[in-house]
Amino acid sequence: MRPSYPPINPKYPHFLHGGDYNPDQWKETPEIWDEDMRLMKLAHCNAMSIAIFSWTALEPEEGRFEFGWLDTIMDKLAENGAYAVLATPSGARPAWMSQKYPEVLRMQANRVRNLHGQRHNHCFTSPVYREKCQIINRKLAERYKDHPALLVWHISNEYGGDCHCPLCQDAFRVWLQKKYEDSLDKLNHAWWTGFWSHLYTDWSQVESPAPHGEMSVHGQNLDWKRFVTDQTVDFYKNEIVPLRELTPDVPITTNLMGTYPGLDSWKIAPELDVISWDSYPRWHGDKPDPELACEIAFYHDLNRSLKGGQPFMLMESTPTMTNWQPVAKLKRPGMHLLSSLQAVAHGSDTVQYFQWRKSRGSCEKLHGAVVDHAGHEHTRIFREVAEVGQLLEKLDDVVGATTRPEVAVIFDWENRWAIEDAFGPRQKKKDYLETCIAHYRAFWRQGIPADVINMDCDFSSYKVLIAPMLYMVRPGVAQRVEEFVAAGGTFIATYWSGIADENDLCFLGGFPGPLRRVLGIWSEELDALYDRDSNALSFLPGNEFGLSGEYGISIFCDLIHTETATNLATYQQDFYAGRPALTVNAFGQGQAYYIAARTEDRFLEDFYGRIMAQRGLQRPLNAPLPEGVSVQVRSNETTDYLFFMNFTPKEQILPLGKARLIDMEAGEPLTDALCLPPYAVKIGKQAR
Ligand code: GLA
Ligand code: ZN
Repeated sequence: MRPSYPPINPKYPHFLHGGDYNPDQWKETPEIWDEDMRLMKLAHCNAMSIAIFSWTALEPEEGRFEFGWLDTIMDKLAENGAYAVLATPSGARPAWMSQKYPEVLRMQANRVRNLHGQRHNHCFTSPVYREKCQIINRKLAERYKDHPALLVWHISNEYGGDCHCPLCQDAFRVWLQKKYEDSLDKLNHAWWTGFWSHLYTDWSQVESPAPHGEMSVHGQNLDWKRFVTDQTVDFYKNEIVPLRELTPDVPITTNLMGTYPGLDSWKIAPELDVISWDSYPRWHGDKPDPELACEIAFYHDLNRSLKGGQPFMLMESTPTMTNWQPVAKLKRPGMHLLSSLQAVAHGSDTVQYFQWRKSRGSCEKLHGAVVDHAGHEHTRIFREVAEVGQLLEKLDDVVGATTRPEVAVIFDWENRWAIEDAFGPRQKKKDYLETCIAHYRAFWRQGIPADVINMDCDFSSYKVLIAPMLYMVRPGVAQRVEEFVAAGGTFIATYWSGIADENDLCFLGGFPGPLRRVLGIWSEELDALYDRDSNALSFLPGNEFGLSGEYGISIFCDLIHTETATNLATYQQDFYAGRPALTVNAFGQGQAYYIAARTEDRFLEDFYGRIMAQRGLQRPLNAPLPEGVSVQVRSNETTDYLFFMNFTPKEQILPLGKARLIDMEAGEPLTDALCLPPYAVKIGKQAR
């Protein structure tokens, strides 16, 4: 049984299709509002994100509110059968506010306060700003709580960045006092402040990291990043107080940014009713499309995993090009439908855009939109958007369906922060995120779904757990890995694992620290290679994997000793030729593998190919997939929905074998040799 989820808001049990809509930029020309409504219907749009940056339009002077224009838009949406993803306006503030209350503005790490301007430029501690947000959010909730168009709350916009003002310094100290139970000794130990005479003797000496101040205490850097996430969550919680009070049934989200490094999404997720995120891939750019498609798949899977499989919202994507990427290349015909449906394939219950209509002035006037400056529907982009809307209308059954993978890859924010902060063993090409994606890719290429989780998640529903570069191991994690393997799970770790604890203090007594027992190895040294260096890994004859031959390795080579583990492959060159490069440790009912070096992708494909076979991992389609073709599945209690996606500019033929699928677009059976035109997507359903 795969229980499915209710729709995002049960009052509208369909896919949401729409985007960021800024009618307040067109208040002088209300005929454009009517035209917007006509065009929305033609584009099969049903949910518009409004008022995201509307503070000045809603409160042009302190305490004087103007809701007339928003009333009209809400009414018009409702009259046209559409809904509002209604925003709180904290993403940008009015000039009067910055002028009267300078504390609302952010202070940079160099302790210079920003001037008024831009957006996302607020102090997340300022009591004045928090109060102003609550006042306007309460007004919005009071006014629209019973409005038929209100569907979802969109809180602020892309929370990010930090503030180093005196208010934030105080808040940081309070946060630290709580964490370290009022003990400076505990803080000094965790931050290892004996180093370079960094000992703190009074709380007032502690400050946030600064380019002209403290940057070298890694425990401090980590705690600052944790504080920034916690303070952002606290700011968010302050924003939603009136919404929870007045509209308890309206789901709340804020748009996340994929793997944005500044905030730990895992700490935000529990506070949201539904996850949403903004996706801007650079199609047809520097990376081949199939490679990029895999990367984007990873981000979608992360967003689905953030709430344990609950469908998410693709809150923003561009209908055509952006204007902030180095080159704003147009999506080739087909790519818009394909990339939109890719989000759906991985668990999105919406396809939404930035932006509905191109603004006339300012810095986003050249950003892609559904409605161009030409102002009509007779454009390629408009047609492709309408096509997405039409297809989504045929996919009602998929709403709420999910994916329950047997594989999970750990990608952990705190681990990433610690890895990026570390001096050594290489400054560049540590590539934690890229390495996680490389491991994930082996499954994506076979059409085997995977979750992307953090190290605190429950591992017990998976057969295979992969933890690339698990440098940091927080308390309790190693024990849970041991339980997972002992109960029959397959665990895969790599070089540079089990190095430091949650404070970035190195484990004593031998690496990989608390993972040593389950992996059955001891890592004595880690060799970092120059870019020009390479080595090779060769399988030992008669190894349990039945693999043979040599694979290239680069960047990192861990020099390990087997303790209880068995050696499967060895290094071929250098002073460590002949020493173990891949090991397996039988532990309870399961097995734990250690990949000691950074290998070429071909190794990961072959290695994971064997793991997939050994563990009998389920594939939605039992056929080899051509390069650049992806298959993903969503299921509910009765039905599997298979998404076949061709990320290449060439036609591809896919043998469906015994699968008996109905094409959800055409309503007819899919034939055995499924033909996928360039950049095409097909969706087939079958009874479970
Ligand atoms: C972000 C923002 C939007 C818009 C787009 C442009 O995702 O949330 O307001 O600026 O970028 O791509
Ligand atoms: Zn501040």
